[in-house]
Amino acid sequence: AIERTLSIIKPDAVAKNVIGKIYQRFEDAGLKIVAAKMVWLSEKEAAAFYAVHKERPFFNDLVRFMTSGPVMVQVLEGENAIAKNRELMGATDPKKAAPGTIRADFAESIDANAVHGSDGPDTARTEIAFFFPEMAIYSR
Ligand code: CMP
Repeated sequence: AIERTLSIIKPDAVAKNVIGKIYQRFEDAGLKIVAAKMVWLSEKEAAAFYAVHKERPFFNDLVRFMTSGPVMVQVLEGENAIAKNRELMGATDPKKAAPGTIRADFAESIDANAVHGSDGPDTARTEIAFFFPEMAIYSR
């Protein structure tokens, strides 16, 4: 089915100047960028976005990292978009990410891991709504 998923290019990858290279991978895989913006998250915003991880030991580091610089946020749309994006990203820990995936090629560590992608249909809906009102998504 045609799905939408939320993708974030994290501060490490933005700083490395590889937004275009990552966008190319989305487009080459048949995913369309139907909404996009650059944002520098406040601590409050990052904590709210990652609220599901609030009790995890890495939560404070995660919020600190995600507020360390601007991020590029986009909605990807296409056949099987949620799983397809997760395949393109590779495993959360870049050391475990398959060769040729975004994290294998551009990420440094499990914290600075270049990209975020929604992990299922429910989170995709919530995460998209966190950043974009429906009228800001230009579905084609
Ligand atoms: P992301 O997909 O953005 O979702 C939560 C983030 O927490 C994850 O990517 C990682 O960058 C970060 N993180 C740090 N440590 C861990 C861990 N042990 N397990 C999962 N995520 C972690």
